[in-house]
Amino acid sequence: MKRIAFAGTDGRTVLCALVTGTATSEHHSDAFEGIVVRGTPAMPEFSRRLQWPVVFVSTRSNTAKEYAEALIDAMNRSEIDAVVPMPETLLFDGIVDMLDAAGLSDRVMGLSRDGAFIEGDKIRCKYLCRKAGIPVAPQWRDVDAKDYPEVLATCLSYIHAHGGAVLKYPYSAGGKGARILLNTWDIRDVYDTLMRDYRDDYRRMFGKKGTWPLLIEARMSGVEISFTIFVDKAGHYRILPTAMDYPERFAGPASKDNPITGGVGAISPHPMETPELMGMAGERIADPLIRAMKAEGILRPCVIYPGCFVSLDASGRPTDIRVCEINIRLGEPEAQPIARRLRNLGALVQGALEGTLDRIEPEVREDQVALCIALVTGPGGPDGQRGYPWSCTKGEVLDMDFTYFKRKGIQVIPSAMTYSPEERVFKSDGTRVAYLNANATVRPGEDRVQVVERLRNKLLAAVDNKKIRVIPREDPTGNRLDLRRDLGTHYATAAKIFQT
Ligand code: GLY
Repeated sequence: MKRIAFAGTDGRTVLCALVTGTATSEHHSDAFEGIVVRGTPAMPEFSRRLQWPVVFVSTRSNTAKEYAEALIDAMNRSEIDAVVPMPETLLFDGIVDMLDAAGLSDRVMGLSRDGAFIEGDKIRCKYLCRKAGIPVAPQWRDVDAKDYPEVLATCLSYIHAHGGAVLKYPYSAGGKGARILLNTWDIRDVYDTLMRDYRDDYRRMFGKKGTWPLLIEARMSGVEISFTIFVDKAGHYRILPTAMDYPERFAGPASKDNPITGGVGAISPHPMETPELMGMAGERIADPLIRAMKAEGILRPCVIYPGCFVSLDASGRPTDIRVCEINIRLGEPEAQPIARRLRNLGALVQGALEGTLDRIEPEVREDQVALCIALVTGPGGPDGQRGYPWSCTKGEVLDMDFTYFKRKGIQVIPSAMTYSPEERVFKSDGTRVAYLNANATVRPGEDRVQVVERLRNKLLAAVDNKKIRVIPREDPTGNRLDLRRDLGTHYATAAKIFQT
């Protein structure tokens, strides 16, 4: 099992394929080849110019059925040995079941439709956690979203007891279905907005008269940390390094004007990662979850990605952990800095599929910090677009100084980007256009905070000096790309709080 494919269209897909094909394990001599199934039109051209050893397999469209057909075909021709589907929608839409029906079940990492509710139905997942004894919010209820008096009473009681409530549309919502309520004044507005956003989906699924399930959780606080866990078919598991995700579009707390996005950057390790925390995540979350998955008959080689709130003591040691949601895929962009700190991604995928993860430890570049910055479409454009994550202008030409990036050791990962072979130019396709990645080594005696600050400044300088830009239609000297400048500064904040 040496030709490992990653199926999807975003940055993590091509980056994981690249890491699989290039990182060298210190313990395994096996060579792996990384393959991208589908990708975006910019990716093969990037690979060609940068001589990335990544192979591309196309699909006719973006549906799970077409992905499955391309995979079955490539597997039957021995061009692909194993596949990791990246976006959750492929799993919800049954890609694993389709490969299973073709006799290729042991070649695909991920949960089948039966198991995908863990991410795709947050209410069922809560009941699973309750049964399994996995710690979650101190109180939660599932109510009928149409029953406003019930929603109101629940929110008021959680605001009183826990300082807030979270309303969650429980089905697939691309990370946008959770709405936080911190005070009574916001209840009606937040409720109305959620109903406006999901009324059509509810109607489609349950009709006008049926119950519209809505999850309401008591607010939790603490440090948010997610854990990427590879699980094998026997239930052995390995927790990969952590990363801190930056979901808010701008610095500061989430609000109406600072929305939660798909993620605008990530840094690995999370500044609060400790061996005790990894142990706690294993004992309190992975162990009971995998036992429950076995009992439910849904255990398969897969990725689980629980998002948690962690409580700490005054020396930064974890005292408690609670799950806020469980995803069943790699995070974007968190998977990028995580993969860049791994030497044996290919062996870990192989181990998950073969049931040998008990013998394969993640080989982590423990002395390195990896930073990933998303370059998103900024405001402006022919229709006065607001920019990511709102409306985005597309089709504008990218200007990139590949020589500079090579010299500086910065990796540019294309995402929402196309390539025009006639004009020989890359073009923006809106949203998160590209990612900048770089690692830095923290040498013995060096201050980790300063190393991260240098790394951050290096990536910011590349953008400030216009080494990568999307040329705005209205301003040939400008740059449509935008980014968050505070990514990574939480290392300094953590050091100040805990005076390390
Ligand atoms: N960055 C958040 C996610 O992938 O779920």
